[in-house]
Order: sequence, then structure tokens, then C-alpha cells
Amino acid sequence: MSDKDQYAVFGSPIKHSKSPRIHAFFAQQTGQILDYKSVLVPADAFEVQLKSFLDGGGRGLNCTVPLKEVAWAYADKKTERAQLSKAVNTLILQDDGSLLGDNTDGIGLVTDLQKNNKIQLKDKRILILGAGGASRGIIGPIQDELPQSIVIANRTVEKAQVLVDEFSCRGLVSASGYAELSGLSFDLIINATSASLSGDLPPLGSGLLNNQGCCYDLAYANEPTAFVSWSQQQGALKSLDGLGMLIEQAAEAFYVWRGVRPNTSELIELLEAER
Ligand code: ATR
Repeated sequence: MSDKDQYAVFGSPIKHSKSPRIHAFFAQQTGQILDYKSVLVPADAFEVQLKSFLDGGGRGLNCTVPLKEVAWAYADKKTERAQLSKAVNTLILQDDGSLLGDNTDGIGLVTDLQKNNKIQLKDKRILILGAGGASRGIIGPIQDELPQSIVIANRTVEKAQVLVDEFSCRGLVSASGYAELSGLSFDLIINATSASLSGDLPPLGSGLLNNQGCCYDLAYANEPTAFVSWSQQQGALKSLDGLGMLIEQAAEAFYVWRGVRPNTSELIELLEAER
């Protein structure tokens, strides 16, 4: 067993994960002594790999695709934000040996929007595209910032309606198909579909974005995603992808593990420059 505290990200695929580099950067910046590695773990190997990781001195774990729901089901206790999102991206080993499940994705997005990019959410009209796990993870933290309203658009409207039924007690939120968006306009459009991963764009009409409106794609890539290009064509004030969110969700995980908050601006600049 190593004398350093052990951390890791589990997922499949995992080869291209930036998390080891991000956490190594944070550890060096804050003077924390730890190891962070990536491990290829398909869903059916999660329990076995987790046990071996904990036996080897594991203190905390990030989980990515396809393990966030598995980790949610496995955690002994969950934070409120993990409970709401029904997904866990961060596990924390507690002193009594139990595992606390957290989800730092939503707060990562909110921090990147508000702090890094000065896009405030209060009183704004927000459109979220998609009604899968990625959408579920961001709705609660966005509602905490008191937007005027949220519309969730999805090809399968019933899936958006399920989210509305769960989240409407926390703020104004409604479901829509894409065609029914015509005539509406928004201050912020967030793409939480998996369309960007295959180079696709949800079926969006023109005129959905207010003057001075902004767009944010949860996905990120070295080239502009199809949604970021669409946003630029629509004349958005800012057309952003999810690199900042990736770094901020990692910073929040680092904070819950180590009690020290890294400064993210230097790393964002560095990774932006490498594109
Ligand atoms: P994730 O966990 O990444 O959210 P998911 O739960 O499989 O993945 O959800 C994927 C989301 O992307 C869904 O909302 C899906 O829409 P449907 O529920 O109607 O299938 C959406 N999606 C995927 N590809 C899309 C595309 N080309 N256009 C629009 N929406 C798309």
C-alpha cells in the first residue's frame, strides 16, 4: 500500500480522461500529497474494483460514464445534490468506513457560468436541451440560483415531463418538444443532450436566443461542437463548451476530499491554450 492518499477516476472509456492531470495540477498548487489515477472500469466490474481500490488505501473516487448511476445506488449516504441528481460522480470515504456519494457536476456548471464567465442565472429564462442524466444533474443547482424559469426540451417530451414532475416543487419548470419552442426566446440555452458526442445538433429553430443571450454545451472538444457553432451563428454573446465545467466539478471534488479549494483560473487558461 502506498503511503500517499489514493484517489482515482473509474469509467469506460477512460483513456482520454483529463482528470488525472487536473487533480495532479490541483495537488501541486495546494501542496497536497496524493496520487490520482484513471482506471478502466465497466459497470459490471464496479464493485470488485472499488473494493480493491479501497483495500489499497483509496480515500476518494470520481465516477464517470457509465458508472454515475451505479455509484449512486452503491453509496451508503448521499448529499442532497447527489440525491436530487440520482447520480454520483464523487465518492468520499468517511471515518467510519462508509462511502458518501456526492455530485459536483451541477455546481461545476454554475461556477463556470457565473464566476468564470459572468453569466448570472438569477431571473433569467433558461432552456435546457435534453432530459437524460446530464440534465438531471444540473437542474437542482441551477434552480438554487433563482432563475425566472426553466424549459426542458426533449425529442421524447415524456422524459422531460418526468423531470418537471420531480423538480417543479423547487421552481418554475416546464417540458416541451423542439417544435413547440417556436416563438419562445431565452437568455441562456444549455445543451445537455448527448448529440455533440456524435457531431449532431438537436433540431433547433432560429430566434430562440434573446439579444445578449448565451449558450453553453456541457460537452467539450478541441474544435467547436455543432451546438457551439450553431450558437455562434445565432449571434450569441458567449458560446461556451464544457471545459470549464469539467475543471470546476473537479475542483469541487478536490475540495470535498481535501478541504482545500484549488484556484482554477490558471488551469482553465492552460487547457484553453492547448486546444
Ligand atoms: P446523458 O446521461 O448523457 O444525459 P442519456 O441519459 O442517454 O445520456 O440522455 C441523452 C439525451 O440526449 C436524451 O435527452 C436524448 O433525447 P431522447 O430522450 O429524446 O432520446 C438526447 N439526444 C441524444 N441525441 C440527440 C440528438 N441528435 N438530438 C436531440 N437530442 C438528442
